[in-house]
Amino acid sequence: MSRPKIALIGGGQVGGNIALLSAQKELGDIIILDIPEAENFMKGKALDISQLLPHDGYDSKLSGTSNFEDIKDSDVVVITAGFPRQPGMNREDLLQKNLDIMTNVANQVKKYAPKAFVIVVSNPLDAMVYAFHKISGFPKNKVVGMAGALDSARFRAFIAEATNLSSQDVNCMVLGGHGDTMVPVSRLATVGGVPLSSLLSENEIIAIENRTRVGGGEIVKLFGKGSAFYAPAQSAVEMIESFVRDKKRVIPCASLCEGEFDIDGYFIGVPTVIGSGGVEKILTFDLDKDEKAALSNTLVEVKKTVSETGLQ
Ligand code: 2OP
Repeated sequence: MSRPKIALIGGGQVGGNIALLSAQKELGDIIILDIPEAENFMKGKALDISQLLPHDGYDSKLSGTSNFEDIKDSDVVVITAGFPRQPGMNREDLLQKNLDIMTNVANQVKKYAPKAFVIVVSNPLDAMVYAFHKISGFPKNKVVGMAGALDSARFRAFIAEATNLSSQDVNCMVLGGHGDTMVPVSRLATVGGVPLSSLLSENEIIAIENRTRVGGGEIVKLFGKGSAFYAPAQSAVEMIESFVRDKKRVIPCASLCEGEFDIDGYFIGVPTVIGSGGVEKILTFDLDKDEKAALSNTLVEVKKTVSETGLQ
């Protein structure tokens, strides 16, 4: 049996770190694809990562390319291609530039890897995953956006910091769009099974929610150039792993809702079961009044960015 074939479309900071982390987990053989001008750089990254694997005894094979034919019959495709956010820019400002790239990528993936499970990471995420789905015509279980996994990881990290407890024991989720209207669901957050509300004050919790919502922007400001890449890469790797190992993990992801949470026809962050069938299920539950209002509010933003793609 051969190893799963994982194609990374875009070999920048996020793509490069996905290659590294996936190889270290031996999730499959990895192809890093980028534009022709960067082909040698991709070959170099692949070679460099393959030379660290002997330290740990991992056997993933890595290669770099600019030729879409090389992604033929990939099991997983992760799309990070696109321009990153710069200071002062919101994710929506990136839309037009990255839509052109996504259109080409979707057509190439459709041609060479029509059965792949596709994880879209490029921003603005909610619009890019919608665009990929629309252009490729892939079934809804084979297309998902990486956002909630990252936003929830940030939420977890901030809760761990504020409570001075292990992030490993923090369980929480962020729903909605990957923008400043995202919905951290504090009511259901726990640390080691203990409700967050019994560990922190209301004001402390509100401060964490606010910081989570602008977590990406905080890093953009600190970098001064480009956006986060380590945590985004690890979040995508978690999703790849759940697919290739059929773990059926419940990960907040931008999945196509068709009635779940009263949302219809949009990709938005919802608790998603990822297994060998791709998006196997969206888990739903009752939201309280404030959460419902917050989800409607974030849906308005998602609809706005999707309508700007002109693809509806
Ligand atoms: C972030 O939130 C890049 O959108 C990504 O950091």
